[in-house]
Amino acid sequence: MSNIIQILLEEHRNIDKLLLVLEHELEVFDRSEEPDYEILQAVIQYFQDYPESCHHPKEDMVFEKLKVRDSAAANSIGDVEAEHQVETKRLRRLVEAVEEILAGREFLRQTFHDVVHDFIEHQRQHMDKEERLLFPAAVQGLRPDDWAELDARLNDQKDPLFNGVIETKFQALQRTILRWQWETETSRVKTNRVQI
Ligand SMILES: [Fe+2]
Repeated sequence: MSNIIQILLEEHRNIDKLLLVLEHELEVFDRSEEPDYEILQAVIQYFQDYPESCHHPKEDMVFEKLKVRDSAAANSIGDVEAEHQVETKRLRRLVEAVEEILAGREFLRQTFHDVVHDFIEHQRQHMDKEERLLFPAAVQGLRPDDWAELDARLNDQKDPLFNGVIETKFQALQRTILRWQWETETSRVKTNRVQI
């Protein structure tokens, strides 16, 4: 598999982890408890720092190439770049919602729920679509020299959370991810024991 597709898939799995953290915090909010707003802000910061500026542009490059090599396949997928712009707007709404709450301004609980839920759901649908349609079509349609060109254009901006050297501002978030993973794993083991 091409280097760039492998990287994009890994990045999707990382985004999945962040969406799980968001989902957990939303559950806390829905129980009328106080979510960890620092963690919510760190998740947002991560989306702004990396997927927005590094993940989506790579997919846009792949999509551009696919349009040249197989326009019918590209058309059948839809407009990936436009979808990325919609994702940017959803992220913006999430930023504003958290800011409103933290500023103590009047904000309907249902609206906050909808904004966070909407962001999570659309991110998941969007990644699913890319994995089902865009990536396979690109693997099918692009030529070896296209992949070489895309790999050469990859910039070397490192993922600030998942590349082994975690930036200070993301350390608490990384601990949260590990804790949720551990708790999910523990509850899975307990469930299995009950079934036995
Ligand atoms: Fe993606």
